[in-house]
Amino acid sequence: MASPPNPLRDAGVPEHVLSLLDRLHAASVEQEKGLNISSLTSGEIHAATRDAFVALDQDKSQFVYQLARAINAKNIVEAGTSFGVSTIYLGLAVSANVQASGGQGTVIATEHEASKAGVARKHWTEAGEGVSRHIDLRVGDLLQTLKENVPTIDMLLLDIWTPMALPTLKLIQPHLRQGAVVIIDNTISSATRYKDLLGYLRSKDSGFTNLTIPYSNGLELCVYSP
Ligand SMILES: C[S@@+](CC[C@H](N)C(=O)[O-])C[C@H]1O[C@@H](n2cnc3c(N)ncnc32)[C@H](O)[C@@H]1O
Repeated sequence: MASPPNPLRDAGVPEHVLSLLDRLHAASVEQEKGLNISSLTSGEIHAATRDAFVALDQDKSQFVYQLARAINAKNIVEAGTSFGVSTIYLGLAVSANVQASGGQGTVIATEHEASKAGVARKHWTEAGEGVSRHIDLRVGDLLQTLKENVPTIDMLLLDIWTPMALPTLKLIQPHLRQGAVVIIDNTISSATRYKDLLGYLRSKDSGFTNLTIPYSNGLELCVYSP
């Protein structure tokens, strides 16, 4: 049987990067088998995953890559970087967009835990300079590290503990360009925890149009058109 389409392969992403991503996703899935995240409180999730990937699923990551290519995203904020798996997709998309249409591009990656940030850097080194040169990693609480030096943003990926999501959106919203996209993971399985965030996004005159994509646990795609 033919293998399913993969936009990264189609775009000519080198084999060693595709293998790296397969390996990292497999490790993340394996780790999550031992963690029943949906049954934990936010505090428990934080403690249980201090040393874990909790990477964005591979199909969702490919979707985010494809979307970043479609909107020619060159400046992206990734809220929640962990070991840097989704960052590689974003870095690849920014790199390809810059190559195709010129200019400069950056993924602002954010991670609270210094040890996780160190592991992420190793993965980006393995992915190669083509990816790593587009990543600006900010270590510490993103509510502090994103206060300054944020350019106009094309895409915001919210893959962060649920209580952090709405404050992060409010911090970045003034930087979103017309037509910017906001992606939020797990909006079906964590709908209750995201009540405030989803209420904010879906309220009349919020400036956002909203769509829940039925990936496993849900993935929200919001477009900013104030
Ligand atoms: C779900 S993981 C991110 C997974 C990553 N996007 C990927 O696909 O590989 C969420 C990460 O957010 C980090 N985090 C939580 N609160 C944070 C904060 N206030 N500032 C920065 N990072 C934070 C956690 O340490 C955790 O590593």
